[in-house]
Amino acid sequence: MEPNAPLASIDPSAGLATLGSQTTVPPEVHTWSAGMLWANVLPDMLIAAACLVIPLVLLRLASRRTDLRFNSLLVWTCIFILACGAIHAVEIWNLWHTHYWLEGGVKIAAAVAAVPVAVLLWRALPQLLSLPSQEQLRDTNDSLARANRELESFTASVSHDLRSPLTSIAGQAGLLELSLEPCSDDQRKRLQRIQAGVKQMSELIEALLLLSRISRHTLRRESVDLSALALEIAGDLQQQAPARQVEFSVPSGLWVHGDRRLIGNLLSNLIGNAWKFTGKLPAAHIELSLVNTGPMAEFRVRDNGAGFDMEHAHRLFKPFQRLHGPSEFEGTGIGLATVARIVERHGGRIWAEATPNAGAAFHFTLPTAPLS
Ligand SMILES: Nc1ncnc2c1ncn2[C@@H]1O[C@H](COP(=O)(O)OP(=O)(O)OP(=O)(O)O)[C@@H](O)[C@H]1O
Ligand SMILES: [Mg+2]
Repeated sequence: MEPNAPLASIDPSAGLATLGSQTTVPPEVHTWSAGMLWANVLPDMLIAAACLVIPLVLLRLASRRTDLRFNSLLVWTCIFILACGAIHAVEIWNLWHTHYWLEGGVKIAAAVAAVPVAVLLWRALPQLLSLPSQEQLRDTNDSLARANRELESFTASVSHDLRSPLTSIAGQAGLLELSLEPCSDDQRKRLQRIQAGVKQMSELIEALLLLSRISRHTLRRESVDLSALALEIAGDLQQQAPARQVEFSVPSGLWVHGDRRLIGNLLSNLIGNAWKFTGKLPAAHIELSLVNTGPMAEFRVRDNGAGFDMEHAHRLFKPFQRLHGPSEFEGTGIGLATVARIVERHGGRIWAEATPNAGAAFHFTLPTAPLS
């Protein structure tokens, strides 16, 4: 089929000539060579196809990056680009037909969409300009990582240096006790308080050293049988306090992919907590279970012990934060901070649910396959 006569509208007087019977000038009708036809049709087709794809890309961007608050800009840009694509599609159509009202309508739609795009884009400009580049982000990450490393080695060296004066205090307190023999009850009590303080401080230092070691520890990833580790920890705990009535529920075949030593530490902290905070119950129940499967599987360690008020849950994973006093349950408050760091190093998440006097559940995610 030949492109129709209205193509003569390349010369606008041609259209008038056909419309107005008064016009005497005959329309100048251009004939289309095949080359001229394809030089118009092919680019129009490509532009129309691109205008279909670009909104899809923009919508995918909006759904993936919900943190970028440019939704209305993206929606209007999509409408604008689709309308522009439609103009090119209608232009191809009109090579053989004369639907200029249709073309005009689509152009009006594009013009209407162009206004909000321009306004919203102008408004979003400062925000867009302030988005950090990949290079800036990399630099910030590098300096943060450097600062963290320095802080961790500082913690490690301070903790290490604190050990020797503490040992000296403990030794001197022991010698003093001997030299005061026979010492009064009051003197003995004071010396015992010094020694208890020294013991508590060296436990804190040990815990701090452990925490800083976890951050610097190079992960040795392998398949780890979580069920076997949990049963081993449960067996050890039961051996230490055989009089306690604790029912452990551990399904077999729970596997994760990570550093065996760190994952053992994680489980022994969580199961150890469950054991400790069910210590006042005549019949305790501790359960390890798989909640969700997948490349990052979700596990749960649940107990029916003392629980805690969820209002304070945000403090749980920070070092030295305890929700129970030392008279109720002893501890240094570093266990969960260690657990959180181990989970984080494996790319997972940890959170807790609890009700006072009705038990606690700790959920965590760990990879089940090598990270790609
Ligand atoms: N299973 C649990 N049930 C109730 N409270 C818990 C449980 N696990 C942790 N908590 C609360 O969270 C606090 C922090 O736990 P974390 O393991 O860090 O310290 P800790 O057990 O007191 O001392 P440690 O450093 O010896 O582990 C606990 O003191 C306790 O108040
Ligand atoms: Mg603990």
